[in-house]
Amino acid sequence: QVSWRLEDHPKLPKGKTVAVVVLDGWGENKPDEFNCIHVAQTPTMDSLKQGAPEKWRLIRAHGTAVGLPTEDDMGNSEVGHNALGAGRIYAQGAKLVDLALASGKIYEGEGFKYISESFEKGTLHLIGLLSDGGVHSRLDQLQLLLKGASDHGAKRIRVHVLTDGRDVLDGSSIGFVETLENDLAKLREKGVDAQIASGGGRMYVTMDRYENDWNVVKRGWDAQVLGEAPHKFTNAVEAVKKLRENANDQYLPPFVIVDENKKAVGPIVDGDAVVTFNFRADRMVMLAKALEYEDFDKFDRVRFPKIRYAGMLQYDGELKLPSCYLVSPPEIERTSGEYLVHNGIRTFACSETVKFGHVTFFWNGNRSGYFKPEMEEYVEIPSDIGITFNVQPKMKALEIGEKARDAILSGKFDQVRVNIPNSDMVGHTGDIQATVVACKAADEAVKMILDAIEQVGGIYVVTADHGNAEDMVKRSKSGQPLYDKNGNLQILTSHTCQPVPIAIGGPGVAPGVRFRKDVPDGGLANVAATVMNLHGLVAPNDYEPTLIEVVDN
Ligand code: 3PG
Ligand code: CO
Repeated sequence: QVSWRLEDHPKLPKGKTVAVVVLDGWGENKPDEFNCIHVAQTPTMDSLKQGAPEKWRLIRAHGTAVGLPTEDDMGNSEVGHNALGAGRIYAQGAKLVDLALASGKIYEGEGFKYISESFEKGTLHLIGLLSDGGVHSRLDQLQLLLKGASDHGAKRIRVHVLTDGRDVLDGSSIGFVETLENDLAKLREKGVDAQIASGGGRMYVTMDRYENDWNVVKRGWDAQVLGEAPHKFTNAVEAVKKLRENANDQYLPPFVIVDENKKAVGPIVDGDAVVTFNFRADRMVMLAKALEYEDFDKFDRVRFPKIRYAGMLQYDGELKLPSCYLVSPPEIERTSGEYLVHNGIRTFACSETVKFGHVTFFWNGNRSGYFKPEMEEYVEIPSDIGITFNVQPKMKALEIGEKARDAILSGKFDQVRVNIPNSDMVGHTGDIQATVVACKAADEAVKMILDAIEQVGGIYVVTADHGNAEDMVKRSKSGQPLYDKNGNLQILTSHTCQPVPIAIGGPGVAPGVRFRKDVPDGGLANVAATVMNLHGLVAPNDYEPTLIEVVDN
């Protein structure tokens, strides 16, 4: 039985409206032309920085500080928002899968046993993101799983690849497909019938999120399950090379691999097993629904094969989806959001669709829905669909700012939490000019929220979940921009390992509140206790320590 009551803070008052603003993909970096945040006009964020060191500082947002396997792992929104919301550091999916593969426990679990019952007669299909980005999946994990599955009896394997170019350099998909082809060739030498069966770019095929555009999932379904796609090839490396003539890795159109009779080599049929090998939830849960739900009306599946399906992880603990999985997800519980509603904090959360689940689902420990509906309101602003965000770099920043402003001014909420997506979503396109526009738009949204906080005498906390827009170029160890063999700059579409800023302020901040100096390694997980303090409450003992102290003036 959890005791939800939090102690009153000895020095900080209750009853202030607290705005928690998360800029997505907004890190700190040295100023140069590839730092879009530096290039952009960002007067509001600049002014917050003037508050250093008492009201502005940097915190860690990558690697082990957010539960990732190594310090080389860049941050991402899943682990970032998990840490922000949960106030503690959990070993995350990437790490848990590593451990399960290394120990071999993955093959002893219920999930693997369940799918392996199809190995005798059926095909094992593996669907997921093919890269070493480590955000949604990792190539080395797929390689181990392929080997492990064949050692444990899989005789016929089909891999359905989604090319990346978003968490890794654009163009790297060719190398990843080549590596996979080599592995599959080795399996074939051992007598396993193993092949790539279909593919497509992650942003155009399968990996939509938060139900932004089901067409994306449908395109994947048609290729993976039905074996139908506008492009047919006999070889996946050739497919990717050819399709890259008109699209980048993220947006390759769907293709299927066919045999000499032009027949798809790997549609999913009755009796097969399917594993979605991404460990991260947001961009797999829609496909999981399509694969698992008997009742389903999001698109016409044409065929709904009777399969044994398992996720690499369970993607949604509340929906218990998928019901079978190979590795248990991190058990994130007692998140700050849940504590706060139990302590009378009326909560408002908002973003546009592409980031909506970040400030709700991820924030709440990969849990969908409300804790106490009467205490919470989550507002989703529909994202533009069918475009890449460099075309619309302002996205819905203004609308998010307005919704947050209205929520603050309404007096109905104690916490108003938003995610402002621009610097991340546009940063991922690799379009530097557009990313500069994006950063400016994000800064304007922050201003709107801070102005509202000013009006109600409230408090703001402005931070970010990980870096992105502050560095748009791949660099050498010494920090020099790198060029490819054709002399082109290597544009960095991915996140970074940079720290992110956190600023506190507003008229409601009690005198004497400042950042402590004794948590120099503070990271995103320290933010939850900090926010609880600003609500006049003391965080649970096992939370990472607060970043603030109150000194007597
Ligand atoms: C994506 O899914 O868009 C990227 O892989 C990661 O971006 P996010 O962690 O900022 O959502
Ligand atoms: Co991102």
